[in-house]
Amino acid sequence: MKKIAWLLLAGLCLPAVAVAGQLAAITDAMLPEQTPELAARAELGKKLFFDRRLSGDGTMNCGTCHDPEQGYSDGMEISLNYPTTKNWRNSPTVINVVFHQQFFHDGRAATLEEQALFPMMSAFEMNQNLDFLEEEIRSVPEYVAEFKSVFGDGDVTLERIAIAIADFERTLISRDAPLDRFLDGDETALSPDARQGYQLFIGKAACVTCHYGPNLMDNRFHALYVPENPDHLEDPRITATRRFVAKLHNFEAYRTLDEDLGRYLITKDRADWKAFKTPTLREIAATAPYMHNGIFATLDEVLDFFAAGGGAGTTALKPLALSPAEKSQLKAFLEEGLAGEITPLTYPKIP
Ligand code: HEC
Ligand code: HEC
Repeated sequence: MKKIAWLLLAGLCLPAVAVAGQLAAITDAMLPEQTPELAARAELGKKLFFDRRLSGDGTMNCGTCHDPEQGYSDGMEISLNYPTTKNWRNSPTVINVVFHQQFFHDGRAATLEEQALFPMMSAFEMNQNLDFLEEEIRSVPEYVAEFKSVFGDGDVTLERIAIAIADFERTLISRDAPLDRFLDGDETALSPDARQGYQLFIGKAACVTCHYGPNLMDNRFHALYVPENPDHLEDPRITATRRFVAKLHNFEAYRTLDEDLGRYLITKDRADWKAFKTPTLREIAATAPYMHNGIFATLDEVLDFFAAGGGAGTTALKPLALSPAEKSQLKAFLEEGLAGEITPLTYPKIP
């Protein structure tokens, strides 16, 4: 892969805008400058994002698991999968991915361009042969014409496919939520309950230690010891996926692996054992179920987990003495405060 081109492109991504421990409203200055070139690449990327040619059997596009109607996630505990296989992780939203510095629950992709090719070639996701895909897109005259107008020549390459999709994703923003207006000084933007919830979030409950900045995330990994779902351990197809992924990452004991080791699989650093990336909390009400394995169906369950100090064995969290009223205030903040204006979408016509 032409890593250099991707690195150059990654340079277009924005510098870190988050100050540790502080929430921030999203401003224009934090987002990519809206040039006609970017708009043209994003328009092409939108077609590719919703094109079922990207999957081996033509049943799936990126929007299947990152569905605009479901907060650009898929509403499943464990995400959808290629027929006859099972996925093993929850589909995260792709809203505001422009703020991420690593991608996937375990951070194994460094740029959106690099990320985009993973699901296409994943045996349990789109299961497409990338060389074949290049030929498929290349043989559609409308695409060749559009690649020509966007990139200067009609050469269809995987790198360009990835670049266009990544730039489309960079346009998917949720902003102007009540939290943004509140941080800009409008006290009434949050209801009294949500305002109390905000105080807890930045104070007693210390959520802001990890969920901070404009996208309420620290771009880091933490081992909260979210429980494994026993049902998933009994499903041979999920077992196959888990062990296959561990094998790809050269984890020696992959044949007996019965848990998700998260970031450890990538770094082999003991500090990353079962650590997962802090997710954004924007549009959180729309993206249940929660956590890398979708183990929690509701925000109440998530809040009970944090109130109890996380899962057995974690040192990342401490029990919080939250009263039922405080939990419901935190929930009000998450539900009302973080639901913003999402970039409007018109579905593309696929050539
Ligand atoms: C079959 C379901 C499925 C399909 C199809 C799919 N994804 Fe995903 N996507 C997932 C899952 C599950 C994850 C999390 C996987 C992990 O962390 O190991 C993910 C993660 C991501 C992330 C990382 C987000 C983050 O918070 O780090 C991005 C970006 C993304 N997908 C974009 C795409 C694009 C672009 C396509 C099409 C080329 C696509 N996805 C196709 C299920 C899917
Ligand atoms: C030590 C860092 C840390 C702290 C403190 C923390 N979180 Fe998280 N949060 C995470 C990580 C990491 C995950 C993802 C865990 C996983 O996928 O297994 C997460 C996941 C979540 C999710 C689920 C998001 C999704 O899309 O699945 C919610 C909601 C959430 N946190 C809210 C909170 C609230 C509310 C607080 C305060 C009570 C809090 N967090 C405190 C790191 C933290």
